[in-house]
Amino acid sequence: MNNKRICVYLMLMVLILIDTRLINAQLRSRTVDTFSPDGKVYIGVDYYPEHWPKERWEYDIQLMKKAEFNVVRLAEFTWVLLEPSEGHYEFGWLDEVLALLNKYDIKAILGTPTAVMPAWVARKYPETLALQQDGTRIHWGVRKNNCFSSGTYRLLSERITRAMAEHFKATPNVIGWQTDNEFSGPYCHCNTCRASFQDWLREKYGTLENLNRSWGTHFWGHKIQAWAEIMIPDYTGDGTWGISGNPSACLDWKRFHSWLNVRFQADQVKILREVCPHHFITHNFMGLHERLNYYDLAEDLDFVSWDNYPVWGKPAIPYIASMAGDVMRGLKSKNFWIMEQTAGPSGWGTFWRNPRPGEIRKICYQQIAHGADAQIWFRWRTCTAGREQYWHGLLGHDGKPLRRYKEAAQVANEYRILEKYLQGTTLKPEVAIIYDYESMWSLESQPGFHGNDYQKAISRYYDALFRNGINVDMIRPDANLTPYKLVIASDLVLLPDDMARSFDSFVKQGGVLLTDCRSGVKDGNNLCHERTLPGLLAPALGIEIEEYDSMYDFEYKVIGTDQMSGTFTATNYCDWITTKKAESLASFDEWHMKSFAAVTRNQYGKGKGWYVGTVIKEDAFYDQLISQLLADAGISPLAIPPEGVEISIREGNGNKLLFVVNHTEDKKTVTVPRGKIELLSQKKISDTIELDNYGVAIIIL
Ligand code: GAL
Ligand code: ZN
Repeated sequence: MNNKRICVYLMLMVLILIDTRLINAQLRSRTVDTFSPDGKVYIGVDYYPEHWPKERWEYDIQLMKKAEFNVVRLAEFTWVLLEPSEGHYEFGWLDEVLALLNKYDIKAILGTPTAVMPAWVARKYPETLALQQDGTRIHWGVRKNNCFSSGTYRLLSERITRAMAEHFKATPNVIGWQTDNEFSGPYCHCNTCRASFQDWLREKYGTLENLNRSWGTHFWGHKIQAWAEIMIPDYTGDGTWGISGNPSACLDWKRFHSWLNVRFQADQVKILREVCPHHFITHNFMGLHERLNYYDLAEDLDFVSWDNYPVWGKPAIPYIASMAGDVMRGLKSKNFWIMEQTAGPSGWGTFWRNPRPGEIRKICYQQIAHGADAQIWFRWRTCTAGREQYWHGLLGHDGKPLRRYKEAAQVANEYRILEKYLQGTTLKPEVAIIYDYESMWSLESQPGFHGNDYQKAISRYYDALFRNGINVDMIRPDANLTPYKLVIASDLVLLPDDMARSFDSFVKQGGVLLTDCRSGVKDGNNLCHERTLPGLLAPALGIEIEEYDSMYDFEYKVIGTDQMSGTFTATNYCDWITTKKAESLASFDEWHMKSFAAVTRNQYGKGKGWYVGTVIKEDAFYDQLISQLLADAGISPLAIPPEGVEISIREGNGNKLLFVVNHTEDKKTVTVPRGKIELLSQKKISDTIELDNYGVAIIIL
């Protein structure tokens, strides 16, 4: 090769390298970055221009600009305005809104409007309306009312999605899409759904023999002899269903319903990816909603967004909002957006408490502390009409920019200080809680013992970790456990063998595992395991459970040993645990229970397996339990916050930020690492910080 050739060759190589790096960077930003490309955090409102006269639009947008908002979500309920009759589109009004927003440099996320079908759809294609169990169609006029199996509905949804995508693909300030709105919807009992359920089962099980075995249809002589015989389970959810309420069939029905939603979304995602490859796609999830497998729904999306409404009755510590934030972060193991954030008193018939001064702001900070990168308030202005007249926005009915608007503007302002520190940071907990939709579904139709509720079971540990100042990852049951030192698997009634083996090796290799009542009772088909409990977990836990008891209307006294010292109250349920290798850390006082343990710990390999065989009333029990588990796992909290104060750490990109959020209406003093800077005030602090009611501090560690 002569020199000239070598030069050209080298230049080509460099170009290829640059090109692949650019592509990789783009791909990375597609999958990782929940920030805007210029490192600005998005903050804004859910805006319904269609509710107001055109003359008001520019003034609204000017107010948004003044508040430093830079994004709105639009159009998710406007199908009938965009397609007033089949195939006839009217995008002009939305173009006008978008152009006005663009004038003020405000970006937009468009909702595919399929959560509310226009009346013409229902009139022309009545089969698109879901069929209720009593055989009547859901009438048009409620919000979520479609059958997800309906080919017609899927086609109409694809058409409006494509038409919108084509029309808005080049609109400069459109940056992304929200699919539909809060997926879920009713169970539909129509023949199309039934046939589609049968097809789905055939795909899953292949043969009827396999299906019959997996469902245990030898019981009550319910052997299925042809696919067409399969019914939609008679599911009522309170454990009283009739003959077709076979637990395995119920579980598959729920899986199927979830899959229908996921497939419906996938149809839209495919079009959006094809037509608007430069836009992101997200969906507004509902936090702790139980009906869909949110891991599956999140799979196709660039990132998760969710709708957060924590202000209800009298102020309480909003553990649940933190847990929901962690669940949302866990869906894709990455930060998320808030697509609808509480902006005022809310309710449909009656409305609840007006957020107190500072409360809207601290609600935002709670979510930022759990991985929220963007905040969008629901809604801009309170509507004067419709079912949500009392679901208040930042502005009231009168449209004036008052207290709540100013508080949101304050957050937007603070975001400008924060964004450069926040970018590239997330939570990196050493503790994980398994969060499993399938166990949740199994327990929903068959709780086993009275009062057994999956979310409540998890909350007992989650809340204690929160009180102990510890961050948590909420993870899928088949997740890789190696990044964690402590894993909590509570109420995990479905425990397929693979999962049990992964728990076993986690402990063997040095992890600390805690599990409890009813975990591991069933396999992935919702059939009870034949092994004596705790089945494959027996070596790791070092116990045997030969019997158990539902404590429907009685309680026992539990007496702790040194490490779990105190007297506690056992309620609802107890395992009759015989320790084999494990030590007993608490026992029962009741005459027939004296030989059984209530709490056990077992050294197994390099790790420890803990088991709690009952439900304890007192928070103090869980607080003590958690501090023991943390000690075993070698985890020490940075600070133990006072009651009602939450701490959380976001780190990455060379930054480590400690969020301190006061959820109470009292002033609080919090002990923090000495001599650091508080970001919002830019002040150096000693080893304590004073927080106002609903006060917030962010400390650079
Ligand atoms: C959400 C929904 C919004 C609005 C809000 C208040 O669930 O996505 O459209 O209805 O609740 O009810
Ligand atoms: Zn249907």
